[in-house]
Amino acid sequence: MRIGLMTSGGDCPGLNAVIRGAVLHGIKSYDHEFVGFRDGWRGVVEGDIMDLPRQSVRGLARQGGTILGTSRTNPFDGPNGGPENIAKVLEANEIDAIVAIGGEGTLAGAKRLADAGLPVVGVPKTIDNDLKATDYTFGFDTAVSIATDAMDRLRTTGESHHRCMVAEVMGRHVGWIALHSGMAAGAHAILIPEYGVSMEQVFKWVKEVYDRGRAPLVVVAEGFIPEGYEEAIAGKGQEASGRPRLGGIGDYVTREIEDITGIETRNTILGHIQRGGAPTGFDRVLATRLGMAAATMAADQDWGQMCALRGTDVVRVDFAEALDGLKEVPLDRYEEAMVLFGR
Ligand code: F6P
Repeated sequence: MRIGLMTSGGDCPGLNAVIRGAVLHGIKSYDHEFVGFRDGWRGVVEGDIMDLPRQSVRGLARQGGTILGTSRTNPFDGPNGGPENIAKVLEANEIDAIVAIGGEGTLAGAKRLADAGLPVVGVPKTIDNDLKATDYTFGFDTAVSIATDAMDRLRTTGESHHRCMVAEVMGRHVGWIALHSGMAAGAHAILIPEYGVSMEQVFKWVKEVYDRGRAPLVVVAEGFIPEGYEEAIAGKGQEASGRPRLGGIGDYVTREIEDITGIETRNTILGHIQRGGAPTGFDRVLATRLGMAAATMAADQDWGQMCALRGTDVVRVDFAEALDGLKEVPLDRYEEAMVLFGR
């Protein structure tokens, strides 16, 4: 079987480990042959492919980014988009299966193509850990490690200067990175999109910590929108609705804390650093296992399925199950973390 791998959407540490796992297992166990589509769905609709022989994946497990490149192209857009054109591309290049490695948007496209009869299987990917049907996504552990390390560093400079330190982490819709890195680093406030916390409450937490002679550490997910935020930024040259521009909320929280409490406060936006560089050992293993599972799913011609982590097992689930809304931080997990900093 000749299989086309593609990586699509925002990149994520572990993508190369998936490619390596699929290629090594696929060649050894099933005699598969592999190619890669360049830059996500763009490479699929345009038939832009590269060979992936065994030697091309040597040493890839530890390498960040994706050797295939990525894009946010929609496979249904443009004159070349859609299942009929993609079926022609597969036929012309003698490709028997597509392994789509991506997040919600990528997998939604994969599902539509599989529903239209194309041979597609999926591998879940996102540093945000917000995909349903899988307990963890690779990239998340790496992002949490990077954010935790950054906050440990913010804490020492904050203590030296008697400042409040704010760290803005990724998480447009959910607060998994903020929750885990905040717990790991011992943050005094964790602010996530799922649960509204008033700025008054944040001031209270910050002041309590400061009054104990400590440097308050606040972690805020980029998608957190406190009450009054939209009104406050309206007319100040920032978008007043929808997704705040990257960095917007960290700046806002920082300014408010300093203005209201009088405590000198600094903001650090971790941004794409959380997505760059080598994956952690956990993510390398998870990504490798998912890549191996994808090679097996293709051999079984189990189209329309995605591999997923359940407990310690890699299982198969329907695309539909994975795409049934986002996996938010449950209230009990948030409350558990709040025991550590809330009063
Ligand atoms: O992968 C999802 C994510 O990490 C979000 O948390 C973040 O908002 C987004 O990617 C930013 O990605 P880009 O800058 O590539 O659009």
